[in-house]
Amino acid sequence: MQSCAGQLKREGRTVALVPTMGYLHEGHLSLMRTGRERADTLVTSIYVNPTQFAPGEDFEAYPRDMQRDLAMARSVGVDIVFTPDDDMMYPPGFQTYVRLEKLPLGLCGQSRPIFFQGVATVVAKLFNIVRPDIAVFGEKDFQQLVVIRRMVKDLDFGIEIVGSPTVREEDGLAMSSRNAYLEPDQRPAARSLYEALRQSQAMVRGGERRAEVIIAAAERHIASFEAATIDYIAIVDPDTLEDMAVINRPARMALAVKVGAPRLIDNMALGQ
Ligand code: PAJ
Repeated sequence: MQSCAGQLKREGRTVALVPTMGYLHEGHLSLMRTGRERADTLVTSIYVNPTQFAPGEDFEAYPRDMQRDLAMARSVGVDIVFTPDDDMMYPPGFQTYVRLEKLPLGLCGQSRPIFFQGVATVVAKLFNIVRPDIAVFGEKDFQQLVVIRRMVKDLDFGIEIVGSPTVREEDGLAMSSRNAYLEPDQRPAARSLYEALRQSQAMVRGGERRAEVIIAAAERHIASFEAATIDYIAIVDPDTLEDMAVINRPARMALAVKVGAPRLIDNMALGQ
């Protein structure tokens, strides 16, 4: 991949990278279509990164289907699929990690304390290997997008980070590889994340500005589903991810809810 990237640079071709962990769905494909439009060569990586899973999380069980993924990547015009293995990415003696000071502390970082260090490290490695001009990430993983933007700035990667809107199922549930774990009877509880976000948007449009009132209403809605266990519901500044008490400028509502086995996340912009 590195010599291929060098060759592309020498030929003066621009490169877009879409990093993924595979088990592709329409959300991933929309990122690839964006990358396809913006560069000469489109690279996607498929790698289930062990350093972003804590012991006891679903690293071994994470859904995988390489043949299907390759066909889907081909169907949207991906030129190169990079599929490293653990020995290549983390050979014996590996000991260098990228850790951000503040952004990973709240939201998903509360229940997944090592997650963003794993993500930042693997994405930094992928950037150094593929040397893209642009990289596309989904707004679905909003904290991850903010972390990557910050890392790129702080470490002078000189890569344009493009955020791409969340792709949803017909009923509003944000697409995720982990939706494969959901049982059919858990679907209403899974959908409650989207409903709570839409309800919150409507409250802001209706004039409500107090974050705690909006969060309490979202909590009530989600908690009315027995299968749902709330991890967090927050309204944060979209750049710093710090909690906002009053919605007097653009804000992001983000939430994580366990529904049966999977922990689902979602987020939406609130107000202007
Ligand atoms: P993964 O969960 O496979 O997601 C890969 C990319 O697809 C991420 O940028 C994610 O935000 C985006 N994505 C997932 N579901 C989406 C949806 N419904 N709509 C739009 N975009 C969506 O995120 C990771 O992998 C990993 O942490 C990774 C960045 C690859 C590092 O290992």
